[in-house]
Amino acid sequence: MRSVLVVSCLLAASSCGDADASARAGTDILFSLDARRPPLPAAAPALVQFGAALATRPLAGRACLDCHDPARAGQDGLVHGRNTKTILDAARAVAFGWTGATRSLTAMVEHELGAHGGVADDVVAAAQIGADPALAARHVAAFGDATPTRKTMAQALTAWLQTMRTEGRWDRYLDGDDTALTAAERQGLQTFLDVGCATCHAGRNLGGATTHKLGLARPYPDGDPGLAEVTGKETDRQVFLAPTLRRVASTGPWLHDGSVDSLPEAIRLMARHELGRDLDDTQVTAVEEFLKAVGDDSGPVRNAR
Ligand code: HEC
Ligand code: HEC
Repeated sequence: MRSVLVVSCLLAASSCGDADASARAGTDILFSLDARRPPLPAAAPALVQFGAALATRPLAGRACLDCHDPARAGQDGLVHGRNTKTILDAARAVAFGWTGATRSLTAMVEHELGAHGGVADDVVAAAQIGADPALAARHVAAFGDATPTRKTMAQALTAWLQTMRTEGRWDRYLDGDDTALTAAERQGLQTFLDVGCATCHAGRNLGGATTHKLGLARPYPDGDPGLAEVTGKETDRQVFLAPTLRRVASTGPWLHDGSVDSLPEAIRLMARHELGRDLDDTQVTAVEEFLKAVGDDSGPVRNAR
């Protein structure tokens, strides 16, 4: 281990020594305090199986997996009103949707059942489950003889979403293994910290917890009312949730409106409009390297806890 580190230090002298030590100190403060890695709730397997089955079925509208495609990092790269968010690691977040107005995963799922799944109320829910013997049997396995409702569907989908978590090199780094990230990726992390990205994208999830004005430092040209759409408050205009960046390298196009189609451009734009800083190419590339590493769940990982 030690010698691997030394070799990578020789190859990239600028990212060794002090830079590494301060990245480690920065991550301990900004990312580990809020570990957001609660144990998986011990949902009954029957509940998870019912949820997984529901996700694949077009109910009265479209199937969850139509838009939240597991083969495309849990999204489809399309805009349906707003950009499709990934469902991977959604269960780690504190707030949901682009505006962050929804504060529980089950409430978000209920919203999605209505908005996209066509399950507007309990009558539709009972009719949809009743019309499909396989789904009806799974509902009985999970809920006994209770009548199917939007709530039972949302509970099952939530239990299934709890299993859609990733663990990778970023988690190993946070758990203390410096070699889980390369020297270049650690340099990117240092830049991410130095520039101030972690003010909003903090925690193990790098976001998903706090809302901020888009265009905080320099106005961002965009007509979306953001959180004000829900609260009606003028101070919430153009306020959005700083989303998780765990899978961000694979979930383009970016931003709530899908208007940005390159990750370097998204990084540049964030620095400009949220922090009032113009990054040079070296800084952008470094942050991009880091964000790609965060999404890398290959290699030996422990079971998601
Ligand atoms: C037509 C495409 C489409 C379908 C079908 C769909 N979704 Fe979504 N989903 C979206 C979009 C778009 C968003 C972002 C919504 C927003 O923030 O305004 C989203 C957001 C979400 C989120 C929030 C993720 C986060 O971290 O904030 C969850 C969870 C979710 N969907 C689950 C589901 C489930 C479960 C189903 C099936 C009942 C479903 N979706 C069906 C397009 C879809
Ligand atoms: C003041 C808070 C704040 C700061 C600082 C900030 N961001 Fe963001 N970030 C946000 C918000 C809010 C959004 C959601 C914007 C939207 O809804 O379109 C976002 C979105 C993003 C996205 C797009 C995510 C996606 O899934 O489309 C990326 C990438 C990103 N930020 C990276 C960064 C980087 C890199 C930095 C540092 C240069 C940074 N952010 C600094 C608040 C912030």
